[in-house]
Amino acid sequence: MTMTQEPPSHPKMTGENRLPGDLEPHELIARMIRVDHAGEFGAVRIYEGQLAILKSGPESEAIRHMAAAEQEHLGTFSRLMKERRVRPTALSPVWSVAGYALGVATALLGPKAAMAATEAIEEVIDEHYAGQAAILGDDEKDLRGVIEKYRGDEIAHRDTALSHGAREAPAHALLTAAIKTGSKLAIWLSERF
Ligand SMILES: [Fe+2]
Ligand SMILES: [Fe+2]
Repeated sequence: MTMTQEPPSHPKMTGENRLPGDLEPHELIARMIRVDHAGEFGAVRIYEGQLAILKSGPESEAIRHMAAAEQEHLGTFSRLMKERRVRPTALSPVWSVAGYALGVATALLGPKAAMAATEAIEEVIDEHYAGQAAILGDDEKDLRGVIEKYRGDEIAHRDTALSHGAREAPAHALLTAAIKTGSKLAIWLSERF
């Protein structure tokens, strides 16, 4: 897949193209922060699970590096939640367990499967963050900047996973398809609950 960098065009005001019945800009942004916080929390938990199994080697080094970025991302969304009085998703306890379990399970399949998990998730998150950035208007430049920066980090994580042999994981197609479906479901749920 080639990444073409088109000059992004943004609306002036967040949600200005919304249709009757769509969310108000305020609620749209609350949802974004809620789901992004949930996702970064899930990412932290996945890597904690993987690192509980993979304790040394080049893959665990790479995972530690990516986990540090996820901690930073999580910290930012935690701060934004407080500043904007956004409640966290009610599903946090579920993501804590599910994320950790996914991390352990993929690491038990081997370091390449652990990398395939990152590859799959970051592909979903790349699209997810791109979609958010496209909706955010010039009235939300700072938030948009954060999301665009983190999207770049997630794309770099996917590339790290690929360079560590993600595509050579056992049952790669099946594994990544399942993880992508799960990630999309988690996004859908975290936006709403
Ligand atoms: Fe992240
Ligand atoms: Fe990431």
